Amino acid sequence: MISANNVTLQYGKRVLFDEVNITFKGDNCYGVIGANGAGKSTFLKILAGEIHPNLGDVSIEPGKRMAVLKQNHYEYDEVTVLNTVLMGHEKLWNIMQEKDAIYAKADFSEADGIRASELEGEFAEMDGWNAEPDAAALLSGMRIHEDDHYKLMKDMDGNQKVRILLAQALFGEPDILILDEPTNDLDIHTISWLEDFLLDFKNTVIVVSHDRHFLDTVCTHIVDIDFSKIQLYTGNYTFWYESSQLALKQKMAQNKKAEDKRKELQAFIDRFSANASKSRQATSRKKMLEKINVEDIQPSSRRYPAIIFNKEREVGDVILSVRNLSYSSNGETYFSGLNFDINKDDKVTFLCDNSLAINALFEILAGNLEPDSGTVEFGQTVTKSYLPSENAAFFTADLDLVDWLRQY
Ligand SMILES: Nc1ncnc2c1ncn2[C@@H]1O[C@H](COP(=O)(O)OP(=O)(O)OP(=O)(O)O)[C@@H](O)[C@H]1O
Ligand SMILES: [Mg+2]
Repeated sequence: MISANNVTLQYGKRVLFDEVNITFKGDNCYGVIGANGAGKSTFLKILAGEIHPNLGDVSIEPGKRMAVLKQNHYEYDEVTVLNTVLMGHEKLWNIMQEKDAIYAKADFSEADGIRASELEGEFAEMDGWNAEPDAAALLSGMRIHEDDHYKLMKDMDGNQKVRILLAQALFGEPDILILDEPTNDLDIHTISWLEDFLLDFKNTVIVVSHDRHFLDTVCTHIVDIDFSKIQLYTGNYTFWYESSQLALKQKMAQNKKAEDKRKELQAFIDRFSANASKSRQATSRKKMLEKINVEDIQPSSRRYPAIIFNKEREVGDVILSVRNLSYSSNGETYFSGLNFDINKDDKVTFLCDNSLAINALFEILAGNLEPDSGTVEFGQTVTKSYLPSENAAFFTADLDLVDWLRQY
């Protein structure tokens, strides 16, 4: 259990948190949401003890261990991959270090012997003998190959580092797990691995994410940061969103009878929990929803900005036609004989383990790269825009943001 008690934090004139009280407990998974700059990361840092609030405090149940996903990708550069994961459990790691130092001594005294046996006892109690295999298993789950476990962190690429730091946070079953946007930079396989891990996880998780699907899969509760306050809601993201929208609509309909409103909300809860699938998580969420009171559902004051594309003219049925497309680079075939059509209203995801191949395909579709063979044909009426993954070339001039946008 971890609680924030009367937490108040102010940066200059801006009050980020005003007397916030909230408790996180059990095997619940709390999804923290809020607009950019609302203070999600700051709140997690307060919980982790990295930032001290102006007023109030954070208390953790005695004897409970908290683990935090590290954001600094260079912190462990001189450490091996496996040790980086082991260091996630600080107490165990310190025991291992002290033990090794004693055994490495040339003059091993009687006092050393006593200390060593104390340490061995603690080590065994913490299941230390399984630490390395457990860490290795986590790394394999993250698809970090065994050949890389004894390499240094600085020799890993950015994507691998993210996964290793995630393994570090998950290592040794912490009682409280704090994750700030863990799915950023993760590939789709690792995201689904992480979802499964969190579904099986027996302890408390507090996770910030902007990924609605991820929140819906793993969360039992939603924590909304808005207007310097923090509100706690039962249910996953979709339940929170739809129920609070419904409550808002009811609030507008002043003349509706209270009893009718209550019935409508109850029907919504029943429908929502009946639709939950049969997975374990869904079952526990369902139980939680069955306990929810209609009175607990609050209208949300949240506004949802959106980007709306106005079409210059209606497009035809055929958007894109790709025929027999091939491309290779440095003797490696990225793809060959590629054929597909994209029609009006299709929304298509391209999945590929090789980011270079995907990049090449998109560069070809954008007209920036010539294929080895084949054709790319867009419909006559289509206008297109391209957001490349490599964008450094756009930011070479020394312009502020407004002037930068003016260029386009
Ligand atoms: N040390 C600091 N001094 C002054 N202001 C700060 C400091 N740290 C953060 N802020 C401000 O506090 C606000 C909250 O920042 P925070 O990073 O917690 O937001 P966030 O909700 O995590 O946003 P995002 O969704 O973009 O990650 C921002 O306006 C930020 O500029
Ligand atoms: Mg943040």
